Amino acid sequence: MSRLKAPRGTFDVLPPDGRRRLRLLQLAEEVLGRAGYEYFESPVFEETELFARGVGESTDIVQKEMFTFEDKGGRSLTLRPEATAAVCRAYVEHGMHKLAQPVKLWTWGPFFRHEAPQAGRYRQFTQVDAEVLGSQEPSVDAELILLLAEILEQAGVEGTRLRLSSLGTAESRRQYADELRAYLREHEGDLSMEVRERIDANPLRAFDSDHEGTRTVMRSAPVLIERLDPDDAEHFEEVKALLDDAGLRYEVDHTLVRGLDYYTRTVFEFESDRLGAQRGVGGGGRYDGLIEQLGGPPTPGNGWAAGIERILLAAHGGPAEDRRPVYIAVAKPGLRRDAFRVARELRAGGVATELEQAGRSMKGQFKQADRIGARATVIVGDELELKDMDSGEQRQVADAAEVLRLVGA
Ligand code: HAM
Repeated sequence: MSRLKAPRGTFDVLPPDGRRRLRLLQLAEEVLGRAGYEYFESPVFEETELFARGVGESTDIVQKEMFTFEDKGGRSLTLRPEATAAVCRAYVEHGMHKLAQPVKLWTWGPFFRHEAPQAGRYRQFTQVDAEVLGSQEPSVDAELILLLAEILEQAGVEGTRLRLSSLGTAESRRQYADELRAYLREHEGDLSMEVRERIDANPLRAFDSDHEGTRTVMRSAPVLIERLDPDDAEHFEEVKALLDDAGLRYEVDHTLVRGLDYYTRTVFEFESDRLGAQRGVGGGGRYDGLIEQLGGPPTPGNGWAAGIERILLAAHGGPAEDRRPVYIAVAKPGLRRDAFRVARELRAGGVATELEQAGRSMKGQFKQADRIGARATVIVGDELELKDMDSGEQRQVADAAEVLRLVGA
């Protein structure tokens, strides 16, 4: 029988990665919670139509990458490729426009895209995602960007670069798209097949191409950011001014194209040079028309998502050693119950504690204490002893309460 393996493009989370991921979850909770964002969850699968309408029919995600299946009732369902469309669906479904605005939410969980797997690109991956619904304010754009920057920095992500742009409103984009289409048609002969096929559906994607001829053509193409409406241009200036005030560096990059259709006005992406081809750590932007497009009241929206696996790939080092345990060694088999009780008491006192549970010799137990990086070992013998693993100092103690006093919580 062939050996069973995790499906292509998926992975198991093994120690010590599990702890690094949980710590990142905590970090996100701290940073976003402090800014008034509330945690929420939505289902892992949704009606296929939500993504087709929300993410956009012409995107790679909808055309090629969705895990779509039929349920037993013949409904077409899709494993969520991203969170934003579902957040908007939930906002409308639960009448959140009646709440005090803006509504600030964040979530964390698995997402699915049928892409060719490579380093940093998986078919099941994890995102932390933040969304703000119901505010036009440029301060929301700046706040969201700064919060992601803070999470990346505190997570230890190195070599980051922030690319920033504005796509204007749907209307200025439409006018610009017509201008760009005309330009692309003039140079059709030099463009890649893929770009040529999408001139009608999504001409902006031409900026994203790796194809040499296309790149040459795009260097002289008309640029949207120079054709923004005065309102949009002012909005963008304000976002930049707030980022400048906060001392966050960014590059205005008019070639920034996001792989989803719903964006308006501000778009941004954090990249890390620690990553290979898949450099995008996190990104997002405004989507002022999406909720209306999904059948809700006209409501501005804005948000980002960052890939947990990419954050951890781009972050230096393993988990910080902030939880070195106390190890409980058992000198004689007859004392196992005492050792078990000491472990319980230390844990109840808030101390991370690991217990000998593999029948090791005394020597083997000290080796194990070293292996797990224990800061102290309690030796349960005829007497109770406490050994400081850093200084090697050993002393007799009366009980678990004294150990707690000595090692602190
Ligand atoms: P996205 O740029 O498609 O945006 O994905 C955000 C992040 O998810 C990427 O920067 C990357 O770190 C991670 N990611 C995406 N695909 C994969 C993959 N196949 N393997 C590993 N990591 C991946 C969105 O999803 C938008 N919903 C963001 C947003 C929220 N815009 C507004 N609100």
